[in-house]
Amino acid sequence: MSHNLHDDIDHILISAEKLNARIRELAAEVTHDYADKDDLLLLCVLKGAVMFMANFSLALERPHALEFMAVSSYLGGTKTSGIVKIVLDLNTNIEGRHVLIVEDIIDSGNTLEYLVEFLQSRDPASLKICTLLDKPEGRQVEIKADYVGFEIPDEFVVGYGLDYDELYRNLPYIGVLKPSCYES
Ligand code: IMP
Ligand code: MG
Repeated sequence: MSHNLHDDIDHILISAEKLNARIRELAAEVTHDYADKDDLLLLCVLKGAVMFMANFSLALERPHALEFMAVSSYLGGTKTSGIVKIVLDLNTNIEGRHVLIVEDIIDSGNTLEYLVEFLQSRDPASLKICTLLDKPEGRQVEIKADYVGFEIPDEFVVGYGLDYDELYRNLPYIGVLKPSCYES
């Protein structure tokens, strides 16, 4: 029997209303901080950041380009493998441009550490990180985002772009998955 998407959620951590309000605040902050910077480029890390990127871009009152990259550090489970791979590279030149990485979540920090080093070698004018969620307790390497939507506890979350095994990305909130959904 088919079941409802929401049935797998143990509880809601961040409601759709809270997400929308906070993303508006972040966009206002970035609009202010980049007021004197032309050539802003938002770099979305696929696929988890796609919902955040869309909402954030629509609220950002500065001209900007949208670009996408895909990296993988997960092997389908709930823990990072620590080995980061570029799955889809940028096909635009970022030299001399103001790049803002838009990420869904920072956990161990491995993904962003790798990405920052990779992008820095291409000489952007500036490189900053904007993440919707931050799990500081999960950190294995030292990396800090310039803009953080919400700090959350060390729990596996889904929704608003974040997946478990490619599902639950379309939930309009951030929720904690019932353990039974990934233990079986
Ligand atoms: P890190 O390399 O450990 O910082 O992991 C970052 C990536 O792992 C994120 O971009 C997510 O795709 C994924 N990730 C980390 N924590 C979660 C989670 O709680 N739910 C879903 N994906 C997560
Ligand atoms: Mg991601």
